[in-house]
Amino acid sequence: MKLKTEARETLSTPWPHRHRHILDLDDFSPGDVELVFNTAEAMKEILSREIKRVPTLRGKTVVTLFYEPSTRTRASFELAAKNLSADVVSVTSTTSSVVKGESLVDTIRTLESLGADVIVLRHPCSGAPNLAAQSTSVSIINAGDGWHAHPTQALLDLYTVREVKKKLDGLKVVIVGDVLHSRVARSNIWGFSLMGADVVLCGPPPLLPSWWGKAYPWVRLEWDVERALDGADVVMALRLQLERQGGEAGLSLREYIQSYQINGPRLALAKADALLLHPGPVNEGIELSPEVSQGSQSFIQAQVSNGVAIRMALLYLLCGGGA
Ligand code: CP
Repeated sequence: MKLKTEARETLSTPWPHRHRHILDLDDFSPGDVELVFNTAEAMKEILSREIKRVPTLRGKTVVTLFYEPSTRTRASFELAAKNLSADVVSVTSTTSSVVKGESLVDTIRTLESLGADVIVLRHPCSGAPNLAAQSTSVSIINAGDGWHAHPTQALLDLYTVREVKKKLDGLKVVIVGDVLHSRVARSNIWGFSLMGADVVLCGPPPLLPSWWGKAYPWVRLEWDVERALDGADVVMALRLQLERQGGEAGLSLREYIQSYQINGPRLALAKADALLLHPGPVNEGIELSPEVSQGSQSFIQAQVSNGVAIRMALLYLLCGGGA
């Protein structure tokens, strides 16, 4: 199974067998990330064609199994699989036998018996993809589990920054907002740190407890947003996860906006060519002011577009490409 593109020739490193599943980035090496990037580059070439479809995964079946709402992750995985000519089956917890009490493990084994080659799983419980991976020989891709991890989001974030900056090593990456509840922040800490960036976390103390300094001793914690943003190369605002909070934010939306919203004057503290990212969905007018979310430094739409190429790359690699 080979991609017929010149970029495919750059894939000299085989995809490591330890990555039968994509559960987080904590077991990735810089070479693994580079291989995903090189493969995504080949996928972008396919996406630039008038007919964005290749037969690479014909005969393979990709199932998206979502226990939580999603727009970007689910749509981009389904587009990615279809662009590679895989068969795609979408299962949501609300319209499946989950509502009759079927367990996660039973659901995974049922999908395996139906012929799934890859299951893309989003679940509100941290660790659910790890449990699924222990229960099946099908490849599991974590599409976001609880507060734990969102590795494919982090890979597309890294890729978006690398595409513009041509490097990741030595960049100052400031992640601002609801760090506590953020699986995106956790996976991006691993990813950006692995690739040599300096990560700074910033948020109100209830959403950035000081114990994060013990969990990730190599990252800097900063509770003052102006100090955090000074000289940043990348500013990533996180969604205020109102649905996951039990009032522990400790401040009102108005106070959050006053103290932590990324607006024009605050973004101006970062480097003039700093990238503004947000994993989405954005709470309009809360994490970002309208002027910056639609401004020239915003790469939010590029993140979404790159999500298709990154997910095509991961499906290709998991299904035996690059071997
Ligand atoms: N970033 C992200 O995971 O968005 P969705 O919830 O829309 O998939």
